[in-house]
Amino acid sequence: MASPKLAAFVVAAVGLMLAGASHAQLNPFFYTFTCPQLPFIVLNQVSTALETDDRAAAKLIRLHFHDCFANGCDGSVLLENVPDVIDSELNAGANNGIQGLDIVDNIKAAVESSCPGVVSCADILALASQVSVVLSGGPAWVVLLGRRDSRVANRAAAEDLPSPFETLDILKSKFKAFGLDSRDLVTLSGAHTFGRSRCFFFTGRFDNFNNTGLPDPTLDAAYREQLRQACTTPTTRVNFDPVTPDIFDKNYYTNLQNLKGLLQSDQELFSTPGADTTAIVNEFAASQLRFFIQFGNSMIKLGNLMPPPGTPSEVRLKCRLLNPSSAARDVM
Ligand code: HEM
Repeated sequence: MASPKLAAFVVAAVGLMLAGASHAQLNPFFYTFTCPQLPFIVLNQVSTALETDDRAAAKLIRLHFHDCFANGCDGSVLLENVPDVIDSELNAGANNGIQGLDIVDNIKAAVESSCPGVVSCADILALASQVSVVLSGGPAWVVLLGRRDSRVANRAAAEDLPSPFETLDILKSKFKAFGLDSRDLVTLSGAHTFGRSRCFFFTGRFDNFNNTGLPDPTLDAAYREQLRQACTTPTTRVNFDPVTPDIFDKNYYTNLQNLKGLLQSDQELFSTPGADTTAIVNEFAASQLRFFIQFGNSMIKLGNLMPPPGTPSEVRLKCRLLNPSSAARDVM
């Protein structure tokens, strides 16, 4: 008769297999034979981009997030507008001013010259995100691959991306709609440890916040005045992390504890009375290791978001454009 320990092992193993089965199409070895040099090409390209652009890493991971939250991780965020064909997600309010498409173009061109027609733009965003975090001092995780690029954009979904002016409850419900819980929300928001935000996203916190006639009480007063000085125009870009602006570390969370979250949506994670997110912020502020491990796990969950079944798909040859009609197509 099987021992209880063996039975428990079998149950756990089957559970793991089933959990994996829902994303059976994604795996870390997808390009092992068709493009073995892929990780090195991406690493090389992102390193080159970082030589001239401190924000390259931040731009790339933000593109991946906006890609995955609109129609799943399908490269749809990269598609430019084509009247009557593509209603570009880039024209959605939440994507106004999003950057980094030029870096994706360079990565894609380098990948195409080594492995033509094989690697999707959606996978390039996923891989570039991980490489970006690693090159900025953050954790590595196993990037699952095998996504396809969709032949449609989902402008409406892009319009519904989380906004920095939303309450914590709304942010939580937007993440929950994708199977991401409070821990994922706090963790993934930790990407605001690097990169910049334009001032108009947070200057409303300085005076008459929410028509109270007063500044946002959860914004440190000295930091507020520092930001006011820095914001010479509404579109000036200010560091998310005033301490280590381009390094991927746990400072985002210590900043929140010190009421130095840049966006309202950042600070709410720590300062909303009674919220379950406060303890998670404290946990990551106390342990960079815990943050790093969870960041990899939450990025894998984010990267597993799939387009609806039946979405027409292809491996795009140029990330901003649909392939010519002669190229191979499929449905997801
Ligand atoms: C919780 C919901 C989120 C909201 C409301 C939000 C909002 C914003 C806003 C308003 C900006 C400034 C954009 C600009 O000035 O152009 C920004 C930048 C950024 N976001 Fe988020 N974000 C969220 C979650 C995330 C997630 C999940 C990631 C990645 C995993 C991410 C990564 C970034 C990065 C790296 C930047 C800096 C980009 C740059 O320097 O170009 N954000 N975000």
